[in-house]
Formats: sequence, C-alpha cells, structure tokens
Amino acid sequence: MHGSRWWQRGVIYQIYPRSFMDSNGDGVGDLRGIRSRLEYLSWLGVDAIWISPIYPSPMADFGYDVSDYCGIDPRFGTLDEFDALVRDAHGMGLRVILDYVPNHTSDRHPWFLESRASRESDKRGWYIWRDPAPGGGPPTNWLSEFGGSAWEWDAATGQYYYHAYLKEQPDLNWRSPAVRDAMHEVLRFWLDRGVDGFRVDTIHHLIKDGELRDNPPNPSYRPGMPPHRRLLRLYTTDRPEVHEAVAGMRRVLDGYDDRVLIGEAYLPFDRLMAYYGQDLSGMHLPFNFHLIGAPWNAQAIAEIVREYEAALPPGAWPNWVLGNHDKPRIMSRVGAAQARVAAMLLLTLRGTPTLYYGDEIGMSDVPIAPEQVQDTFEKNVPGLGVGRDPERTPMQWDGGAGGGFTTGAPWLPLGSDLARTNVEVQRADPGSILSLYRALLALRRAEPALSIGRHAPLAAGPDLLAYAREHAGRRLLVALNLTSRPRRLELPGGVLGGRVLLATGLDRTGELLGAVVDLRADEGVIAEVASAQG
Ligand code: NOJ
Repeated sequence: MHGSRWWQRGVIYQIYPRSFMDSNGDGVGDLRGIRSRLEYLSWLGVDAIWISPIYPSPMADFGYDVSDYCGIDPRFGTLDEFDALVRDAHGMGLRVILDYVPNHTSDRHPWFLESRASRESDKRGWYIWRDPAPGGGPPTNWLSEFGGSAWEWDAATGQYYYHAYLKEQPDLNWRSPAVRDAMHEVLRFWLDRGVDGFRVDTIHHLIKDGELRDNPPNPSYRPGMPPHRRLLRLYTTDRPEVHEAVAGMRRVLDGYDDRVLIGEAYLPFDRLMAYYGQDLSGMHLPFNFHLIGAPWNAQAIAEIVREYEAALPPGAWPNWVLGNHDKPRIMSRVGAAQARVAAMLLLTLRGTPTLYYGDEIGMSDVPIAPEQVQDTFEKNVPGLGVGRDPERTPMQWDGGAGGGFTTGAPWLPLGSDLARTNVEVQRADPGSILSLYRALLALRRAEPALSIGRHAPLAAGPDLLAYAREHAGRRLLVALNLTSRPRRLELPGGVLGGRVLLATGLDRTGELLGAVVDLRADEGVIAEVASAQG
C-alpha cells in the first residue's frame, strides 16, 4: 500500500462539466468539450479527471438529481461520446473518475415515480416513506441541507418522504437489499465501461436513524448561518451502519483491477477516519476538506496537518483538497499572492491532491447578480452567501468573447479578470500561476519524495510552515511563508538547505541555501536538503 497505486502517486483534477468546455455553442459545457481539452490536461500534468455528474437529470441540483444512473444527459452528450472520452483519456495516460450519487435520486427517476405511485408499490421501500407524527406534521424535526423540513408531504398516498437536500432529491433507502443491489449494478455498469473509480457523493448521509429520533439543537448555531445548522445532524448523518454500505461498494470495486473509491463527507478527523473502513475495507480516500475551511495562517495549517497525520489508521492513504464546486475558490479566500503558496502546499503535502478546475489559472469567485442566480440552494436560502454559482463559472481558456469556453451565451458569467486570467495568456507567461502549477506537478512527478515520501514537520516561526519530504534517502525541504512580510527560517541544527528546486515566484531555481532560508513576502520554496554531515 505504500505509494504503489496510481491514485496514491497521482493528482486528481475536478471538472465541473457544465463549465469546462462547450463544443456546441449552447452555453453549457459537454463531453466533446472535455475531450477537446484533454491535451491541455495532459500538458498540465495531472493524472486523473473526476467529472461531476453527467447523467440524465432535471438539473434541479445540476446533475446531483439523477433520473437515470446508466445514461448521459443529452446536454452533455451521448454514451458513445463518453466512451470516446474514456478511450482518448486513457490513450494519454489520464484516468477517468465519475461522480456516483447514491444517497438520493431525482424525483423524476422511474424508481421514485413507481415508489410514489402507491403504498403497495414494489418500490415503496426503496425510499424513506413515513406517516405523519402522531399530532400531524412531519415525522421528525429533521431539516433539509438546502432549507426547510427534510420531509415532503405526498397527499396522494398520505405519507411523507425524506430528502436530505431538495425535495426534488428523495433519499434512497440503503437499508433495502434491493436498493443496494441496484446501486451496485450501477457501479458495475460504469466499471465495465472502463472508468477508473468514483467520487461518492455525500456518503455520510446514506443511512438515517432507524428509530427516527429528533435531532438535538446545535448550541453553536448563530443567526446568519444556513438554517439547517440549527440542529446537530446526529440522527441523520454518520450513522454506524453506513460503513457496511460503504464496504459493499468497495467489494464491487475490488472485483476490478486498480480502481479507486473516494468519499465526500465533511467530518472532523476522528469521524472521517472511520470511512477508511474496518481494516481499510471502505473508501480508499475519504476526502479531507480541512484545508478548505482553515484559517489561513501557519499555525492553524500546521495543526491540521499534525492532527490528520496522527489520526490516519495504519496503512491509510492521505489526501488533500483546496477547493471544489461547493465552496468559495482558494483565490477568493486567500488572495492572489497566497494562492501560489496554497498551490505549493497542496502539491507537496503527503497524500493525493485534488485540484479544482480553474484554480490553476487563479480564477476567483465571480459575483453573481440576483437575476443571474442558478443555484437552488441560493434561491431557497437567499442572502446568506450560501450560493455556489460564483465558484462554478466557465473555465477561462482565452481572452475572447465567451472566454474560449463557448461561442454562445455562457450559462454563468465569465470573470471580469478574463483578459489576464486565462489559459492562453498564462501558458505563454513563464511566471504565471499556471506555469507554477505545471512546474509543481512536474516536480511532484519527478520526485517520489513529494508524491509518496515520508512527511516530517520542521520547527518554524509562527508565520512559517516548514516540512521535509523524504524517500529512499532523498530529502526535500518545503518552506512556506504565509504572510505578506519577508520571513527568515532558521533550519534546525544539522540541517542545511541545498539547491532550490522551485520557488513560487519561479525565479530561484538553482540557488544554494544554507542554515537559514530567507523567504520573501508570500513566498514558498522547495529545496534539496543537504545535511551538515554531508
Ligand atoms: C454534495 C455535492 O457536492 C453538492 O454539489 C450537492 O448539491 C449535494 N452533495 C447533494 O447531492
């Protein structure tokens, strides 16, 4: 297990398909578009793409409401085009990971239509139907993540159904063996077509409390937080039985060669670790989102790294995520200068990195006017800043109209920074953030110390983060200045900095360091380590 698998050494790149590349001018990205940009991804140097859902969907939650797990939404293309994409990607050495959405279907999915049709339906038990509470009203106080009660009344059959997200996303009942079987078939359908793995949506929601206990109030709730935060999700998420369901998925993957199972769950480290499963029989990589919400200072990040490394079960492979389609972009969280430091952090920590499309060119959250809002979360809960459109805007390929993304009208606006924040301009600029990402990816590929080496924190001042990565006798130093003031790192006794391999400014390669490393404002450096003993 020590770094021999592609998903341990490799870097994953997330594509939000509506926004990556539009080949037919309808303003929405598609599979042919992605295929036409594989050359770019291979040039950039990533190893795998994860594509957010491309299945037939009414798009109430932009594909996370699936109405057919074994098809391709016509807006994105056809199964033949999907096969061609996988073929081409594999031809270039790129793996393809799909999104798998097991917690809920669309309310238009034939399974739900059947389930809803009558209480006697064969598929009634495929979803979570309950009678009203004794005095009337919803069976429990459970809240939807997207606002309001999580129970929707169905007048025709006189029961409520449960939906952790939108009412258009009824939750499947994973306690039902028939549901498990059907959902395992879905995995096999795509594995047989050659996909290299899955990112499993909202895995901790899969099983809800069998006794339907009310969730307790959240003592840390404050006005201004999203309304579902009023309650602790004690009985609706992270139930012990969920691990059985995860192990079942893993068994399906284990019937194939070298595939990867990645789980999405926002959980504290102690809870997250359980998703590796008993004896690592669960997720290969339960997503580690802790950098996303982290206060951007050296101490906080050092503590996250320390806690995470310490919590990992023996043999479990770590991973790191800086951004995704649900959270504000790193550029908007930390600013342009620190976004470079963040890139170096992501690509030098121990564990598989996942990179969000557009972050490599420093795309920012794009302000969305009220009349442009697309995300239902924002529509349901307006004004709290929960909307996810800003981080989902089209990839900026060039500075022309449509940003090289579309010849039509893009479904979300392009950034006002289009003229310089685009692939074409930055590919030609050896000092751009894109050039930095590419250099980091190349270095990571060339240096096993960075991809699979040991991680050792080094003592550093309060504003600096420093660590060593080591493999087969080769030792590299990573020193990051998380402030906008110059900082000096004094290396611990016996350690000397050697040749600089890469700096965030792309302008110090080859420089020789010594017992102190002077870092400019917002600078990160990767260097060889020369020990005093020689
Ligand atoms: C997590 C996904 O990342 C998010 O975009 C989606 O809205 C919810 N799960 C529901 O599927």
